[in-house]
Amino acid sequence: MDSQTILTGLFGHPVGHSLSPLMHNRAFEACGLNYRYAAFDIDPSRVQEAVQAVRALGMRGVNVTIPYKVTVMDYLDEVDEEAKIIGAVNTIVNEGGKLVGYNTDGRGYVRSLTEETGIDLASQSAVLLGAGGAARGVAIALLKAGLPSLVIANRTVEKAEQLAAHMKQAVPQATVCALPLNKVAEALATSTLLIQTTSIGMHPKTEASPLPAETLHGGLTVSDLIYNPMETRLLRDAKAKGARVHCGVGMFIYQGALSFEYWTGRPAPVNVMREVVMDALRG
Ligand code: ATR
Repeated sequence: MDSQTILTGLFGHPVGHSLSPLMHNRAFEACGLNYRYAAFDIDPSRVQEAVQAVRALGMRGVNVTIPYKVTVMDYLDEVDEEAKIIGAVNTIVNEGGKLVGYNTDGRGYVRSLTEETGIDLASQSAVLLGAGGAARGVAIALLKAGLPSLVIANRTVEKAEQLAAHMKQAVPQATVCALPLNKVAEALATSTLLIQTTSIGMHPKTEASPLPAETLHGGLTVSDLIYNPMETRLLRDAKAKGARVHCGVGMFIYQGALSFEYWTGRPAPVNVMREVVMDALRG
């Protein structure tokens, strides 16, 4: 660190367990870039001041995490089209004093899913579990990347219906419909891709699964956004049925890789980022 160091970081609350500083600092180092990444635990009453500080301090940008992905949008000069559709920003880029908001979560997810499983989205028929913030980012990115058909299943079916309507408006050529979570078995039987975005199965309740194992089959690719644990109960059940599985750690890595690319203008060292994150998760 010296007088030329370019600063980036993370705004959230809490941020103490985030792996982003480790991942980004290792990536900057691997590319020989004089950049640093720090985590900032921001009090809810100081979000606007924190965003203004990015400009005042000449930081190159920040990631934004829970619970500020929606609130920061009010304090930016510009919000990218995709982030507007998702309704949340996870990356701020400081373009010479102009703060621009992006959302790399959905695109990061799609890059991870397609590169790690090799599936062709255009030939998939998918079921998405959940209709919260994560589901929204993933749904729009999948449909924009060419997924032709999506069933959104959620415990609160009204939220699935709202999300489906929003997606049909954003990507009119796609077929999108909504179902209650407990009525998803039939749709799943004829689907090739299952994406799970709810918190069910997350540490510490690792024995929970959003679906009975009998509803899974060997023709599925099952993708769980959860990465703690890396192998959820759902993924274990899916593997036992002969399905291909995909875990959420890649989404975390690629959303970071896309942020890195916005800030530095260079391709992210994805393998280095993956290695440091996997080492940290394995303890
Ligand atoms: P995120 O930003 O991680 O998506 P969120 O916006 O709070 O978080 O959304 C959480 C999602 O997990 C929702 O789809 C929620 O279902 P509801 O809309 O019915 O609340 C789902 N979810 C969380 N706990 C659940 C549970 N025990 N059973 C079924 N769905 C659950």
